Amino acid sequence: MNLCVRPVSGLRGTIDLPGDKSITHRALLLGSLSSGVSRIGGYLDSGDCRATMGCLHALGVPVEQAGEDALVVRGAGLHGWQEPENVLNCVRSGTTMRLLAGLLAGQPFYSVLGGEAQLLRRPMDRVVHPLRLMGARIMGRQSGKLPPLTLVGGPLHGIEYTLPVASAQVKSCLLLAGLYAEGVTAVIEPGPSRDHTERMLRARGVELSSRGLRHEVRGPAADLTALDLIVPGDFSSAAYFLVGALLVEGSEVRLRHVGVNPTRTGLLDVLRAMGAEVTLLEGREEGGEPVADLLVRSAGLRATTIEGDLVPRMIDEFPILALAATQAEGITHVRDAAELRVKETDRIATIVEVLRALGAHIEPRPDGFDVEGPTPLIGAAVDGCGDHRLAMTVAVAGLIARGETTVIRAECIADSFPGFEPRLQALAPGALS
Ligand code: S3P
Repeated sequence: MNLCVRPVSGLRGTIDLPGDKSITHRALLLGSLSSGVSRIGGYLDSGDCRATMGCLHALGVPVEQAGEDALVVRGAGLHGWQEPENVLNCVRSGTTMRLLAGLLAGQPFYSVLGGEAQLLRRPMDRVVHPLRLMGARIMGRQSGKLPPLTLVGGPLHGIEYTLPVASAQVKSCLLLAGLYAEGVTAVIEPGPSRDHTERMLRARGVELSSRGLRHEVRGPAADLTALDLIVPGDFSSAAYFLVGALLVEGSEVRLRHVGVNPTRTGLLDVLRAMGAEVTLLEGREEGGEPVADLLVRSAGLRATTIEGDLVPRMIDEFPILALAATQAEGITHVRDAAELRVKETDRIATIVEVLRALGAHIEPRPDGFDVEGPTPLIGAAVDGCGDHRLAMTVAVAGLIARGETTVIRAECIADSFPGFEPRLQALAPGALS
C-alpha cells in the first residue's frame, strides 16, 4: 500500500491518539497472569499488540473484546499458562518476544518464540545471557544470539545484573523472570528507560523497589491482583503530529489524553530546547501513569545536541526528530544512540536513507547522525523500509516537501499506529489524495 501526501497550509484541530503500545503489551501479559478478570480500556489494536494477544491465546488465556475499545483478560494466575502446541508467533514485535522470554523461562513447559524475518534479525543475546545466569534453559540461533528462541522452563534463581545498554525490554524481561525466581533479582540500568513494567507490577501488588536506576523484585511472587485500567494515548504516536504541527506554518493542534511518563517524553525536552512551545494541559494520573493534553503551535526551530540519558527517554522518536532537525537552524548532533542500529531496521542507516531521498543534509555517525538545516525538502517516492516509524516520518515530511511525497509500503504503519491516516486527514484536510 502506498500513501501519497501533499503540503498543507496548517494542521488544525483536536484529536485523540490510540493507546500506548508498551502499556498495552504489559497490561495483556500481566493481566493474563493475574488472579481474576482485568479490563483494558483504550488498548492499542496494532499489529504488535495483536502478536502478544495471539501468543496469550496459544498459552490458553482468553482475551475477549468488551465493547468497542476495551478488552477483557481472564487471568489464569502466575502458574496458569499451558504449554503451547505450536511456535509462539511474535510476528514483528520485539517487545512481545523479549518480555515473553522472561515469563516463559519460569514456566514448567517447552516453548518456542518465533516471528517474521525482520524480528529474526534482532539481537536476543541481551536476554538469553542474563536469563541463563538465572538458571534458564534457553537456546537460539548462533549460540543464542538470534531467534527463534527455545525454552524449557524450570526453576530460576535471582541475580544481580547490570544491563550493558539502557533497554526497557531487557529490564522488563528480567524483572518478570524474577517473579518466578528464588530470592532477589536486581537489575541495574545504565540510564533511565521506560518504567511501565515497574509501575504496573506495583499496581498489581508486587513489592518492587526502585532506587535510582536499581530495581529489585523478590521471588517467587505471590498472586498478582487483577486490575482495570484505561491505557493513555501513545506519546510515541503523538510525536508525529507534534512535529508536524511545529513544522507546518499556521498550525495549532491539541492532542488529547496522551501519556506523559517522563521516561518517555525526552522528545518534549528536545523540542523545547530547539525553540518549540508545547503546553501540557489538564495533567492527571490514570492507572499509575501521568496523562495530559498537549497543545502545540508552529514555531521556528534551532539545532541542538542529543546525547547521554536523553537517548533512552526518546529512543523511538529519532526518525521524527531527524525530520524536525532538517528544518532547524544549524547542525543537530545525535550521539550515544547506537541502539538505533538494532531496532525494526538499522535506524541510523534508514533515517539517513529516507531523509536524503527527500533532499536533507544528514550524515551518519557510528552512534547517531548529524543533520544540517534548514533545508527545503522535495517530494519523492520513498520506501518506508518496512519500519512503521520511518514510514510515518516520511508521511509527515510530505506535509512540508515541495510537490507530492509517496510513502511506499506504508502498511507497516499499523504495527504501532492504526488510524494514522484518518487523523492526518482530520488535522490536515487535503494532505492525502
Ligand atoms: C519498548 C522498549 C524500547 C522501544 C520499543 C518498546 C518496550 O525498546 O524501542 O519500541 O515496550 O519496552 P528497548 O527496550 O529495546 O530500547
